[in-house]
Amino acid sequence: MINQDTIGKIMDTARIEEVVGDFVPLKKRGSSLIGNCPFHNEKTPSFHVSVAKGIYKCFGCGKGGDSVHFIMDHEKYSYPEALKYLANKYNIEVEEIAQSPQNIEAQNARESLYIVSEYAANYFANELWTGEEGRAIGLSYFKERGFREDIVKKFQLGYSPDVWDALIQSSVAAGHKEDYLERTGLAIRNDKGKLYDRFRGRVMFPIHNFTGRIIGFGGRTLKTDKNVPKYVNSPESEIYHKSNVLYGLFHAKKAIRDADNCYLVEGYADVLSVHQAGIENVVASSGTSLTTEQIRLIGRFTQNVTILYDGDAAGIKASLRGLDMILEEGLNVKVVLFPDGHDPDSYMHHVGSGEFKKYIENTRKDFILYKASILLKEAGTDPIKRAGIIRDIVESIAKIPDDIKASVFIRECSGLLQIEERTLLSELNKIRAAKFKKSSNTNNAQSQQFQNPYQDGPPDNLFENPDPGAALAPEAAPDNDQIQEREIVRLLLAFGHELVNWDKIDNMYIGSFIMQNLSDVTFEDALCKRIIDIYREEIENGHLPVANQFIKSEDREIQDLAITLSTSPYTLSDNWYNKHQIYVRDETVNLKATILGGIFHLKKRKVDRMLLSLLQEIKTEEDSTNQEILMQRYSFIKGVEKEISKFLGSVILK
Ligand code: CTP
Ligand code: MN
Repeated sequence: MINQDTIGKIMDTARIEEVVGDFVPLKKRGSSLIGNCPFHNEKTPSFHVSVAKGIYKCFGCGKGGDSVHFIMDHEKYSYPEALKYLANKYNIEVEEIAQSPQNIEAQNARESLYIVSEYAANYFANELWTGEEGRAIGLSYFKERGFREDIVKKFQLGYSPDVWDALIQSSVAAGHKEDYLERTGLAIRNDKGKLYDRFRGRVMFPIHNFTGRIIGFGGRTLKTDKNVPKYVNSPESEIYHKSNVLYGLFHAKKAIRDADNCYLVEGYADVLSVHQAGIENVVASSGTSLTTEQIRLIGRFTQNVTILYDGDAAGIKASLRGLDMILEEGLNVKVVLFPDGHDPDSYMHHVGSGEFKKYIENTRKDFILYKASILLKEAGTDPIKRAGIIRDIVESIAKIPDDIKASVFIRECSGLLQIEERTLLSELNKIRAAKFKKSSNTNNAQSQQFQNPYQDGPPDNLFENPDPGAALAPEAAPDNDQIQEREIVRLLLAFGHELVNWDKIDNMYIGSFIMQNLSDVTFEDALCKRIIDIYREEIENGHLPVANQFIKSEDREIQDLAITLSTSPYTLSDNWYNKHQIYVRDETVNLKATILGGIFHLKKRKVDRMLLSLLQEIKTEEDSTNQEILMQRYSFIKGVEKEISKFLGSVILK
């Protein structure tokens, strides 16, 4: 276990904007930084980072937390792994408390898989550079192919000797467990229970996750025998999920952000060659066909993808549909084709890095226009085929979520296809309408499940003059007081420390004021109640709690709620305003109305619910004396309710 001092040091040093900034491009907006949320798919940013509070919060999907939670969520790290990641980022030495062997075992299982993968990469690299077989076969192969030494080293390429258990022997001698070799897929157990190396007699390409840890391998054979598979790859494991890994991303991510573009190629060799040509913003989907997760992974760094293809026609046609997927994610796609059956790797070595760079820059074409031009060429003058193409292309354009971008393409394609813009637009609208109908059916079902009451800010009626008609019948839905209770917690966190001087109340903290006024109220929402109880206890002990105490709470539920409430759209009102074009009253201008509004709305809620349940009782009560008593109680409480309503009306109007 990491000791408390170290945790404190890490928390003090890690800056949220730097931690998040490694993964999400952030822009300044008002008092916070915003970007596209890495946890859900979105085109307009609703992911906020508050530097002052040291937290992030997404108003789209609701995720929020501090630096450690960001890393846990984003990298799927455990709490100690995330702390270690941050310690490493900021060069903080980690001091650990000694633990029982079983605990270490359990906590470190995942970590052990990373460690044994790292060990294997070092072993393979060492074999490549110093092993007899490795140098003679592996290293000379890379040299023959024209890979520079610095590139071979940078990507930690290696060689696995042509022996059944070379890696196993070496790892076990170094103290690694066979179990971990098996769980990473580096070793395989046969039917007879014997363990052997997966990779034998192959050059090795370690696969890094994008924080740079080794999670798997690709191994290329050097034999030309058609019966030997060219590549053997690590299987899926607890640390390697192929569909969300891009080969080369760790070495490319900085360049991708700087160039605001990502080159996408097919193979390991292509990544190395393009990188070697000085174009470092290059990744490969290697092995799997491109997945949505991989596209989103790119989307975290840039909105621009350029595909580098080998020029064979069958491959191009097959991939056209796959590329629509990238458009659908809202990314801009360009395409570069290579002549004469070259792939990026062979073309780079063929023309040299200078020419290669120029070629890429000069021949890249926008994907949709590129698609239109190949399909057109294929269709020739056949009118039926041409009509089919138009539909096909407009379908691609319909996938672009941005209307303005889509209309630019419509214009360009109208020129290219020699078809009136109007015709294309009406086709586009038809496709969109059909899509909208489909998606709105599914969306409805989803939105009904959503429960966060602050998703769109506190409800409008919170500060409004109560509807006079409402006094006649108690409010019904929703059937609990969560919204009003959470509003109280929000007010405590936002204003608890401000002093008030209202009428007869002198120099009192709002926190104490609220607690005093709600001493007779029972909170029903379990989480609110926990926070209120802590708040009350602290006040009774003579401390006034601060918002940070809850925001930094070790209790994840308390922390989540505190973050949600203290970043509610009131404090982010300019975003709120821009997004919805809605005027949000600045609650700090009339703090008294805000605070009293919060207190009395909650009270009114409680009273309304008492009235409702009394009505219920009156209806079911058969004994007339009892009924009489209940009615008296009802009319008394009704009187209280009227007073509250009147009061609320007058407070808000002042
Ligand atoms: N691939 C694979 N298994 C194979 C063939 C290919 O997993 N049997 C994956 C590898 O990730 C490979 C990519 O598909 O990198 C592209 O294949 P290819 O172009 O054949 O490989 P290159 O990396 O270009 O290898 P080389 O140029 O050395 O032939
Ligand atoms: Mn190749």
